[in-house]
Amino acid sequence: MTWKRHQEMLALRALDQRVDGYYESGDRRSMVVGRMPGPDAMELRSNDYLALAHHPKLLNVQSDSIRSRGHGLMMSGVYADASNLQRSLEKRFASFMGGEDCLLCQSGYDANAGLLQAIAAPEKPIYVDFRAHMSIWQGAKSGDALVRGFRHNDLSHLERLIKKDGPGIIVVDSVYSTLGTECPLLDAVDLAEQYGCILVVDESHSLGTHGPHGAGIVEQLGIADRVQFRTASLAKTFAGRGGIIIGSARHIEFLRFSSMPAIFSSAVLPHEIEAFEATLDIVAAGRDLRESLWKNTRYLRQGLAALGYPIGPGESQIVPLEAGPEPRTLSLRDALEERNIFGAVFCAPATPRNRSMVRLSINAGLTREQLDTVIEVCAQIKDQVDPASWPGARTAGTTGRSANTADKKAVKASTT
Ligand SMILES: Cc1ncc(COP(=O)(O)O)c(C=O)c1O
Repeated sequence: MTWKRHQEMLALRALDQRVDGYYESGDRRSMVVGRMPGPDAMELRSNDYLALAHHPKLLNVQSDSIRSRGHGLMMSGVYADASNLQRSLEKRFASFMGGEDCLLCQSGYDANAGLLQAIAAPEKPIYVDFRAHMSIWQGAKSGDALVRGFRHNDLSHLERLIKKDGPGIIVVDSVYSTLGTECPLLDAVDLAEQYGCILVVDESHSLGTHGPHGAGIVEQLGIADRVQFRTASLAKTFAGRGGIIIGSARHIEFLRFSSMPAIFSSAVLPHEIEAFEATLDIVAAGRDLRESLWKNTRYLRQGLAALGYPIGPGESQIVPLEAGPEPRTLSLRDALEERNIFGAVFCAPATPRNRSMVRLSINAGLTREQLDTVIEVCAQIKDQVDPASWPGARTAGTTGRSANTADKKAVKASTT
């Protein structure tokens, strides 16, 4: 065999091993894709928290925009910097969230991955909460930085790591996308300042939902000037496809020409930008929508807790049914879907192994009857899915922490 052929064989074997690993790790497709929901299905999978995805005004804005502007120029956002549309939306987001400037990104994933890739320094530590979103991990790991995970919401663990490896970048989610827990942000910001660390907060699940105007938890807690970077997906409450990074004008200018997705992927389209402008108006004025969201959230959380479901210490609109091992989550998912309730299944690598779950996302448009149906169904299937055996039931009160009392008080002010 020639040397070249030998090298080809090695490359093919390496690929085979990786693909074998995927198939041996279990059937991910059948885990996350269940029954096909019918027209009368109750959809609790969507992150459309204020129920804006079918808002007639927003649909009209988009169709009018496509008719008049087409899809604009197909090119990277670095050239589109000249586009008034993009810059004016960025400026609006910055002032809405009490920041200096903003970079509009193609997705929340690109915002996180591009930000971390750009600010990571070789050999310098990046501390990431174990339950932070995968895009943060991917961005942090894309360079030669020292990536260190700390236990979920465990700031004492984080402090021990900082004492060992030195100051660096701390990355947290304001609300965690799988467990629905809130980060103890006041403590995190104090810790970051005490040790001279940069703090990055992903507000994907609090932008639009938290705060009197929906500007997120950082702004609500009055710590916008103490958090160096905020990111958010616009595919949650803003019901579109995009993401943002909020930071100082100097940092945003640096990111615009240093974040790889900002440079090497094409810009957000004009009709998407115009829809975000209109969505911002609705979100900022959406106090009633937020009130409905929080009323619905409290009602469902209380109903499930009264039935003995261990839904964790969080108070957010994300309600985790964490059955644990995958076969248990599958039978929970099937029991719910047979009764026409569709949540989102999360399993490894989105969760640690044996901590898989069905996530229920609450939205402002759900009616009391629909919430009662969910609670009734959970009562019906309780013996079958046995919530008393779930990991959260065994470790209630001992896994990580939710937000501290001061955070909770401040956040509660807008969620009650
Ligand atoms: C916390 C968090 N950050 C980032 C993202 C990525 O957002 P997008 O879907 O816009 O790429 C998500 C979405 O799952 C998320 O939950």
